[in-house]
Amino acid sequence: MKFKRALITGASSGIGLAVAESFAAQGIDLLLVARREERLLKLKTRLERKHKIDVTVAAADMRKAGDIAALAEIKAFAGVDLLINNAGLARGTEKIQDANPADWEAMLETNVTGLLRLTRALLPHMIKKKRGHVVNLGSVAGRWVYPGGAVYCASKFAVRAISEGLRMDLIGTGLRVTNIEPGMVETEFSEVRFQSKERAKGVYKGMTPLSAQDIAESILWAVQRPAHVNIQEMVIYPTDQAAIQHVHRR
Ligand SMILES: NC(=O)c1ccc[n+]([C@@H]2O[C@H](COP(=O)([O-])OP(=O)(O)OC[C@H]3O[C@@H](n4cnc5c(N)ncnc54)[C@H](OP(=O)(O)O)[C@@H]3O)[C@@H](O)[C@H]2O)c1
Repeated sequence: MKFKRALITGASSGIGLAVAESFAAQGIDLLLVARREERLLKLKTRLERKHKIDVTVAAADMRKAGDIAALAEIKAFAGVDLLINNAGLARGTEKIQDANPADWEAMLETNVTGLLRLTRALLPHMIKKKRGHVVNLGSVAGRWVYPGGAVYCASKFAVRAISEGLRMDLIGTGLRVTNIEPGMVETEFSEVRFQSKERAKGVYKGMTPLSAQDIAESILWAVQRPAHVNIQEMVIYPTDQAAIQHVHRR
């Protein structure tokens, strides 16, 4: 299927940035969202110059309902037919009895509530056009729980449930919903989780993780299927990872 404009949340880094690059190379116009606007502006300049596409950027915090309402007012918003719900994070690996509830709020409000609010704002436009594809960034953490991951896993289990339920809600509209569930991808994710570059490096030590580009290519493949084909979910592990905590290190 061909798309006119993609809205990508979390386009300032990692998977979102790689998806922006791969969609731009296909000539898809973009609406890029994140909090770090200066990164988005640099990306806009580069992608517009290289691919002759239109790129709109918008600084928004997915935790803030007002920011999402403001996104819906942007001219490019109504023309979006491809939504990549990618903005997300993990914070800490403390046990529930030791954790800081502010970390839970950050994860649940960004990964779940923000995703829902934005999807809710965009769907009426897609339904009216009878075309659209919603791609959610779930995780293998949305299928299997690991020690210290209870709340991040809960947020990604929610993304999986929302993806399944949304597919049911949208039946008959022609819209598609895909849940992408990666294992270890080397991005800024671990740095954000541990608030430490050193500790983040250790996560990928001695193994070959997935790259953001690997995930972007999988997403591109899923959205390019013919209109009658819906890739419901994709679980993508690096070859060196057989299960969440079963990692081969050299
Ligand atoms: N890396 C992995 O191993 C992995 C595995 C499975 C799933 N995932 C999922 O993949 C998605 C992308 O993660 P990544 O690996 O690319 O991590 P990343 O490099 O840290 O990128 C995260 C992106 O989300 C944005 N973001 C975070 N909080 C936000 C907020 N409140 N409002 C707006 N934007 C926000 C960040 O932008 P700003 O900071 O500029 O706002 C950034 O662009 C996440 O949903 C993550 O859970 C990652």
